[in-house]
Amino acid sequence: MFDELSLHILDVAMNSLAAQARVVQITVLESRKRDWLIVRIRDDGRGMEESELRRVLERGRSGKEGRKRPIGLGLALLRQTSEMCGGHFHVRSAPGQGTTVTASMRWSHVDRPPLGDLKTTMLALCISNPTVDVRLTYRSDGQRMCFSSQELIRKSESAREPQDGARLPSSSDFLASKNSRARPESRPALGRILGGEAVE
Ligand SMILES: Nc1ncnc2c1ncn2[C@@H]1O[C@H](COP(=O)(O)OP(=O)(O)OP(=O)(O)O)[C@@H](O)[C@H]1O
Ligand SMILES: [Mg+2]
Repeated sequence: MFDELSLHILDVAMNSLAAQARVVQITVLESRKRDWLIVRIRDDGRGMEESELRRVLERGRSGKEGRKRPIGLGLALLRQTSEMCGGHFHVRSAPGQGTTVTASMRWSHVDRPPLGDLKTTMLALCISNPTVDVRLTYRSDGQRMCFSSQELIRKSESAREPQDGARLPSSSDFLASKNSRARPESRPALGRILGGEAVE
């Protein structure tokens, strides 16, 4: 078990990237009043056959062929955390239809790991595949925050369009130019995530 839920989220969302997802939707719902916390990671990747899903959920087995040691515990560890903290764990998956992993737990359970550094998890996911839309919805009693990496990139690109119609170089132009030197403002999305700014 990881000592932060954000590390579980990173591990499970990395599976989505490995499964060629174009959109990874991470949802965190927490309610102290109702005493639950739910984490859901949904993707539109390759999905799994029922038999494959059953096999990977067996605790201690790796889904990757050829491994000598029983690693590959991403899903098993999240299930363990969830069940140990009075919740439920569920995976829905079908070939070509993506995968949804849902883990609930009791918010007040003494063993429930803290959410941890979700910003760094988001940053790592965005960096590891910048063309994927990594989305986050976070809700707690009375609060809501949504983030979409691709929406942020679109907004930052259009903010570069000057009023008179002449177009400033975009970050992709910048990367395409051999003589360019990376400027910090060519990566505003990640800076804003680190700054904790929410994008609706
Ligand atoms: N979102 C997903 N889409 C398609 N297949 C998945 C998905 N998540 C998991 N799998 C399959 O289940 C297997 C087990 O996943 P799990 O995260 O438990 O371990 P792993 O990814 O094999 O190993 P590790 O996380 O240590 O690199 C994966 O190797 C993959 O074959
Ligand atoms: Mg994994």
